Amino acid sequence: MYKLLITGCNGQLGRAINELYKGRSDIECINTDVAELDITDNEAVIKFVKEKAPYAIINCAAHTAVDRCEDEEDLAYKINALGPRNLSIAANEIGCKMVHISTDYVFSGDATKPYTEFDTPAPVSAYGRTKLAGENFVKEFADKHFIIRTAWLYGDGKNFVKTMLKLAEDRDEVGVVCDQVGSPTSAMELARAIDALVFTEEYGTYHGTCEGVCSWADFAEEIFKLAGKNTKVNHLTTDQYPTKAKRPAYSVLDKYMFRLTGRYTFADWHDALKEYMNF
Ligand SMILES: NC(=O)c1ccc[n+]([C@@H]2O[C@H](COP(=O)([O-])OP(=O)(O)OC[C@H]3O[C@@H](n4cnc5c(N)ncnc54)[C@H](OP(=O)(O)O)[C@@H]3O)[C@@H](O)[C@H]2O)c1
Repeated sequence: MYKLLITGCNGQLGRAINELYKGRSDIECINTDVAELDITDNEAVIKFVKEKAPYAIINCAAHTAVDRCEDEEDLAYKINALGPRNLSIAANEIGCKMVHISTDYVFSGDATKPYTEFDTPAPVSAYGRTKLAGENFVKEFADKHFIIRTAWLYGDGKNFVKTMLKLAEDRDEVGVVCDQVGSPTSAMELARAIDALVFTEEYGTYHGTCEGVCSWADFAEEIFKLAGKNTKVNHLTTDQYPTKAKRPAYSVLDKYMFRLTGRYTFADWHDALKEYMNF
């Protein structure tokens, strides 16, 4: 029996991991969210991990509200940096594996070709800075770690797909930015990739997104197409849609480490979206 400690289990990825392992008698998910285990509490984390002695910790907890992080940078550092630090220290104390999820937002977005795991991060937002600090703590404190950077995640929770479908209920047209590109990624595909790594010893940093590249506007058009909606997507520039946090314009991640190790091939984003929308 493999015991997996899931933090942030009520979030999109936490739910997808539970869905993936539903009915698996060889895997036990120890599910925790902030009420059961606040990852910012160093002593509580170490005590909990020692008591439960999991095979691996899968850290799905994070402060993911990118714009709010600009105003709450201390809180974001606590959750996105000290949280994974605490889990990594605990993992090392019992010698278990540590899976941590990070983001495309650790990069500036100024590139013109996909970022590999060997490119140098340079975050342009508070969220990105706090997530990069979290990665660094994981590298510093957890010997057996996997860091997986994902992007544009959607699953069971608040996300772009659901926002677009909600808007389409009472609008004939929506404005969506067309000059930020990336790879929409389903939480289920990310859960499958974690499953493909966690039982190996191929530690390190990985980029994990669905295949293919699009803009937010293209993504919205595909969502409406699959949902059978005629909602028109007006293509906006980033300047026409100002947000508190600066977003990387070019957020494409090269899954170089997954290719080198041959451990997982992500589905194309169109196919993953179809699966998510039940087609
Ligand atoms: N969503 C994206 O587009 C995206 C893109 C790139 C990378 N990622 C990364 O992917 C991972 C999973 O993201 P997600 O979309 O599944 O996140 P999510 O849906 O926002 O879930 C995060 C969960 O963590 C919980 N949490 C917050 N503070 C906590 C604490 N101190 N202790 C324990 N739990 C806490 C949250 O609870 P509350 O809801 O009550 O705060 C929530 O249930 C994160 O590391 C995120 O940074 C996400």
